[in-house]
Amino acid sequence: MKAFVYRGPGKKALEEHAKPEITAPTDAIVKIVKTTICGTDLHILKGDVPTCQPGRILGHEGVGIVDKVGPAVTAFKSGDRVLISCISACGKCEYCRKQMYSHCTTGGWILGNKIDGTQAEFVRIPYADTSLYPIPKGADEEALVMLSDILPTGFECGVLNGKVQPGSTVAIVGSGPVGLAALLTAQFFSPAEIIMIDLDDNRLETAKRFGATASVNSADGKAVATVMKMTGNRGVDTAIEAVGIPATFEMCEKIVAPGGNIANIGVHGQQVALHLECLWDRNISITTRLVDTVTIPMLFKTVASHKIDPKRLITHRFKLDNILDAYDAFGNAAKTKALKVIIEA
Ligand SMILES: NC(=O)c1ccc[n+]([C@@H]2O[C@H](COP(=O)([O-])OP(=O)(O)OC[C@H]3O[C@@H](n4cnc5c(N)ncnc54)[C@H](O)[C@@H]3O)[C@@H](O)[C@H]2O)c1
Ligand SMILES: [Zn+2]
Ligand SMILES: [Zn+2]
Repeated sequence: MKAFVYRGPGKKALEEHAKPEITAPTDAIVKIVKTTICGTDLHILKGDVPTCQPGRILGHEGVGIVDKVGPAVTAFKSGDRVLISCISACGKCEYCRKQMYSHCTTGGWILGNKIDGTQAEFVRIPYADTSLYPIPKGADEEALVMLSDILPTGFECGVLNGKVQPGSTVAIVGSGPVGLAALLTAQFFSPAEIIMIDLDDNRLETAKRFGATASVNSADGKAVATVMKMTGNRGVDTAIEAVGIPATFEMCEKIVAPGGNIANIGVHGQQVALHLECLWDRNISITTRLVDTVTIPMLFKTVASHKIDPKRLITHRFKLDNILDAYDAFGNAAKTKALKVIIEA
């Protein structure tokens, strides 16, 4: 089969690869129909993710058709159409029983990281019963690819942890696919204001179309003052960090209102300053989370009932044969205006 393989920092290739086999009774082999590229895949290609070693097939998102199942799989059979969660969950360990699938002691985020992933014609899914989701009949499969990772990430790590409430004021720092997913799902709770902050005017335009009430380009270094002015010097009830660099987390620390929540989503590779000298008396909460994907079944229903349309995040489409072009488009988003790219296997 064809597969996209990480070959070490800065090196990648579309290669001929052996088809995966069932190795545990709880495994399924899934034929990929559609997959996509995540910002995290770009981090891996730069060599930022040491758990992912050269030779690994990348990808942790996608929809497909079950090809084969191991003898212990009871919820799926060959021919079933499925959504693949970016998180593999055994369903039995201490963390899984607490619905913290991301910390599953033998699973978690392993797909396209510690085991081969979805940017290929076939993928082996461990713990298939608890890591795959049946696709409802008539569902738009392309839209559902957004439910493997970014929609639950924006919702669980940003909106739920940030305690977005009816009438509240929200700021989302970072208007990439994850920040936009937080923007779409924050609207379930009818906040009064959602202020999007980014350096890229095109992404801020998109945010306005997706329901942001205001946008701030932070390139001039005045975003904090602008947000404080917009909120009558109060700040925001929820500040969601969706970039993953010190400057944007520190911005959240400066714009959070007394009693507010800072919900971090970004993956941080560097030390970030926590300004307790300014925050100690402000009754705030700070949360961090690796997406658990526990909200996938709920998100399915919101897509089916057209409460949200994740398809709006898709800007480009490619065949698996042209996945290197897909990486180019996704990696040069400022130029290509790419958000999510669909890759058809
Ligand atoms: N916690 C989790 O489970 C989880 C899951 C998936 C992704 N993530 C992380 O979420 C983050 C966002 O993901 P994404 O795919 O949307 O990334 P992305 O790189 O596509 O988007 C980031 C956005 O931030 C903007 N930006 C960069 N520097 C900025 C600055 N100084 N001020 C304001 N905006 C700035 C960029 O213009 C871009 O639009 C990443 O760190 C990613 O690794 C976390
Ligand atoms: Zn991802
Ligand atoms: Zn587990």
